[in-house]
Amino acid sequence: MNIKWNADKYNRDFSFVHQYGQGVIDLIDFNGKSTAIDLGCGNGVLTKALKEKGLSVTGIDSSEEQLRIARELYPDISFIAADAVSLSVRNPVDIVFSNAVFHWIDKDKQQTMLSSISRSLKEGGQLVFEMGGHGNNSLIHSALSDVFERHGYIYIMPFYFPSIGEYSAMLEAAGMEVTYAVLFERPTELKGDNGLADWIRMFIRTPFSIIGDKEEENTIILEAADILRKNLFKNGKWYLDYVRLRMKAIKSN
Ligand code: BEZ
Repeated sequence: MNIKWNADKYNRDFSFVHQYGQGVIDLIDFNGKSTAIDLGCGNGVLTKALKEKGLSVTGIDSSEEQLRIARELYPDISFIAADAVSLSVRNPVDIVFSNAVFHWIDKDKQQTMLSSISRSLKEGGQLVFEMGGHGNNSLIHSALSDVFERHGYIYIMPFYFPSIGEYSAMLEAAGMEVTYAVLFERPTELKGDNGLADWIRMFIRTPFSIIGDKEEENTIILEAADILRKNLFKNGKWYLDYVRLRMKAIKSN
């Protein structure tokens, strides 16, 4: 995963990503635990929240732009540039936490990533995370697929949104035992009249790489937003059709 973010816009207009992360932190058992990794830490807001729980925590992200912001905001926390797939630590930790990151990893790299995480955990250590789950943004991807086809292109959905069963099997294969799993819908409000088009521009990048013409790209986004208006625009506000997968798994042997 190597996306170049407009980190300022991300943090200003899409701050709900971190706000919802607080609920994921509540799944952690902090009793007697001292060390943690925030995998895909972004701007470090949740890394800071973990530190405030008394943990010695390291934030890891592949985006230098997000890390620059995290280091500026929280100079007392260690932030390291690394890819989630090849996580490797000298000293295994009590907790690996991750919010809204795993769906960015290609399906064929997920097992490698989960095995690296498992190796980075102490025996009995916790992996606690939220990601997009099965059915996430299905209306958005279906509308984009229709509009791409209308313009003579094939839309390739760039994310991995697993079911509880599918991901549980991968966690177990990586040597972790699932102790909590929930898949739930969370319609998520966006800011502004162009909220959905802005969100698509910010987050759905790779499918547009085949288009090459900025004007046509913009037309496609606006046509998709037009299709989606009847389902995702309510009482003057745009909502994302989010489905979240929250899980907790314990490193076993
Ligand atoms: C998500 O958090 O579900 C998500 C964010 C950006 C793009 C796709 C999915």
